[in-house]
Amino acid sequence: MKTKAAVLWEVNAPWSIEEIELDPPKAGEVLVKMVASGMCHSDEHLVTGDLPANIPVIGGHEGAGIVQEVGPGVSWLQPGDHVIFGFIPSCGKCPSCSNGHQNLCDLGAAMGLGLQIADGTSRHHADGRDLSLMCMLGTFAHHTVVNEASCIKVDNDIPLEKACLLGCGVITGWGSSVYAADVAPGDTVCVVGIGGIGANAVQGAKLAGAKRIIAIDPVEFKREKAMEFGATHTASSMAEAFGLVQQLSWGTMADKVIMTMGVGDGSVLGEAMALTAKRGRVVVTNIHPAMETSGAGISLLDLTLMEKQLVGSLFGSGNPRADIPKLLGLWREGKFDLDGLITKTYPLEGINEGYQDMRDGKNIRGVLVYS
Ligand code: CU
Repeated sequence: MKTKAAVLWEVNAPWSIEEIELDPPKAGEVLVKMVASGMCHSDEHLVTGDLPANIPVIGGHEGAGIVQEVGPGVSWLQPGDHVIFGFIPSCGKCPSCSNGHQNLCDLGAAMGLGLQIADGTSRHHADGRDLSLMCMLGTFAHHTVVNEASCIKVDNDIPLEKACLLGCGVITGWGSSVYAADVAPGDTVCVVGIGGIGANAVQGAKLAGAKRIIAIDPVEFKREKAMEFGATHTASSMAEAFGLVQQLSWGTMADKVIMTMGVGDGSVLGEAMALTAKRGRVVVTNIHPAMETSGAGISLLDLTLMEKQLVGSLFGSGNPRADIPKLLGLWREGKFDLDGLITKTYPLEGINEGYQDMRDGKNIRGVLVYS
């Protein structure tokens, strides 16, 4: 069939809206009519080259849609089912999935190539070339074919144009607080960078019982939004936050510091460690450029003498098959704000405008809504 998709033909080029050829689903795959896709910062990393991609690539990995057709052997999904994609697949069978770490599913190893999990080929083609898919999903498209391992079935009354955000940013941010940082009641928590991930780290810290949540972002609009999501204080820079946290904590500093910047920067990790209390923990959730292997500038002595911890977190260190339904349940009860995360919606053709708005700091999350 033919459908429309946003393709990146080279690094540092705009997204190009193309009519593409889409093959039917093979064994273990499903054809999904997309309803919406969040415009996550990670797709921008493909454009800048911070995240190496198999170009040409269809972007988008924070999507939700309606199953239209299932390939042979798919027994638990049928046409009409509503699904959210996990940006990392979860097979349910590998050691990581079996251990309750679906975010580290072995199938994630194939993400860099962005081809179909089952056979390493492509169902998406344009101009006689095979296209790869961001996170093996390619949600910047009106239709896509993905492996069943990427699908999480949700109730049909869930508004997919909002719930698409659970496929990446929401779980990543919320889990960074609740699982990776292990925020406990009474904690002082700093969240560095208030975008689609940081806003959810603030919500997660609040739900986990943090006493103080200091949201750090240079953009005033984002600091204001952070207060709506549950922050108790804001600062426009790490330096400003240092004095504030010192004062608020009587010098003991923050129990947890969660890094959710647009692009990670090793040079600020020293400040993050300085914000952290004895036995405190810095969680690195944001993506650092692939080539950044030195220059983090942290006091390694602090790791020993103050037992500070520096840990990484992928997909909120959570289990999308359990956490997506859990968060939807909290949203139904009015305890989790999904609506406030979406600043503006765009059609597929508005993708470059949407990413410019993100670069300009205008959006917590922009969402492509297909109709
Ligand atoms: Cu993402």
